[in-house]
Amino acid sequence: MQRLKVKQILSSQSAGAEIKAAGWVRSVRNSPQVAFIDLTDGSSMAGLQVVIDPQTEGFSLLNEVHTGCSVAVEGKLVDSPGQGQKFELKASRLALLGAADPETYPIQKKKHTLEFLRTKAHLRVRTNTYAAVFRMRSHLSQGIHSFFRDKGFFYIHAPIITTSDCEGAGQMFQVSAPGDKEFFGKPAYLTVSGQLEAELLALGLSEVYTFGPTFRAENSNTPRHLSEFWMVEPEMVFYDLQDNMDLAEEFLKALLVYMLEHDREDLEFMERWYQKGLLAQLEGIIGKPFERLSYTEAIGMLKASGKSFEFPVDWGCDIQTEHERYLSEEKIGAPVIIHDYPASIKPFYMRLNDDGKTVGAMDVLLPRIGEIIGGSQREERLDVLTRRIRLLGLSEENYSWYLDTRRFGTAIHSGFGMGLERTLLFLSGMANIRDVIPFPRTPGNADF
Ligand code: 4AD
Ligand code: MG
Repeated sequence: MQRLKVKQILSSQSAGAEIKAAGWVRSVRNSPQVAFIDLTDGSSMAGLQVVIDPQTEGFSLLNEVHTGCSVAVEGKLVDSPGQGQKFELKASRLALLGAADPETYPIQKKKHTLEFLRTKAHLRVRTNTYAAVFRMRSHLSQGIHSFFRDKGFFYIHAPIITTSDCEGAGQMFQVSAPGDKEFFGKPAYLTVSGQLEAELLALGLSEVYTFGPTFRAENSNTPRHLSEFWMVEPEMVFYDLQDNMDLAEEFLKALLVYMLEHDREDLEFMERWYQKGLLAQLEGIIGKPFERLSYTEAIGMLKASGKSFEFPVDWGCDIQTEHERYLSEEKIGAPVIIHDYPASIKPFYMRLNDDGKTVGAMDVLLPRIGEIIGGSQREERLDVLTRRIRLLGLSEENYSWYLDTRRFGTAIHSGFGMGLERTLLFLSGMANIRDVIPFPRTPGNADF
């Protein structure tokens, strides 16, 4: 007899099959002569209903079987007379693998708040909500790889320890060893973005992407910021800003299609409990072109909105979350791409436009979330790039390796970064980014 996952049992077996399964007890219903265990192994939202009666070997263990225990069962799959499931397992054998004291088990059947469950990061995955979110996180990651693989992009790995600040915002965590502040011979940091390294690889492999953890030492305690988050960063030679926006739009839509196809069950669960109208919203986005606005047009719209924003709007100001949400949620009611931002609010590597004032930047904004993707066409001209680096007071020597790519065989190229957790926030309907990463790191918090 083969051990199968609950998902496999429910989808591929038929009544009469002899089955072995194992997992955790979600609940037990006892009646005098028979007990029903709702067994989950995390493989699917639906659990396996296991029927235990006095003929079951191990029947006497029942008084030790509570929510949270791990058990193994074997028996025959039979048509279920009850509502809610097609099959149930009529157990011939029950074994208790790991007990869980019902008095002290932290996750009770009653509904806990998400805030409380965050303090139980080691056990919250046993709940339907977090199991769904973390299954979605896995599917989304697979969907990202599948999109780029199908397009012929190469998956590369940027270093986590770096000596260059990509975004130039001074938001880097320093890395040192005990008693040796300069273990690497110079100050080293946790990367804020794999972009600079991705550019190098793209200027040799043409189309690449990185996908890994990135770190920001910004003191932002918001529902949308993490100190450690995952970012996917494609980088493409011979793409200009238009091509870059086209790819970002195609990518995001492809991910929604992928999720609807591969993880509908969890999306439906999240729609039911967390985000009414979720599936219709995703389907609506897939079917329509994204609105595209220049920064100048966006500022015009914000000024004409008659809204009093916390951060006042003027040409040259940064677009804040409240502005992003006004544009994508209220004004457009759909994803929107803002492009060609003032050079003064963007990093050194973005390509300077002919007006000398703006750069070929683009951000994709989503309703409910705000910015989900940030990207740009890169400055491929050595002289312009060198001037920008000097102007911003950055060290030319530090970036000499980066400048070399413009010195030898430069080519126009573009890329963007999409935050995995922000995407998952949008897809799951969760409101706080701490609920879509298994072990959140935020200012003042690095538990587990
Ligand atoms: O706009 P950002 O800072 O862009 C870059 O880092 C570029 N180097 C990317 C590139 O062109 N290759 O970050 C990109 C995305 C944001 O749109 C957002 O989704 C996410 O990364 N992000 C964060 N997610 C969670 N917590 C934070 N503190 C984040 N900062 C950025
Ligand atoms: Mg950004």
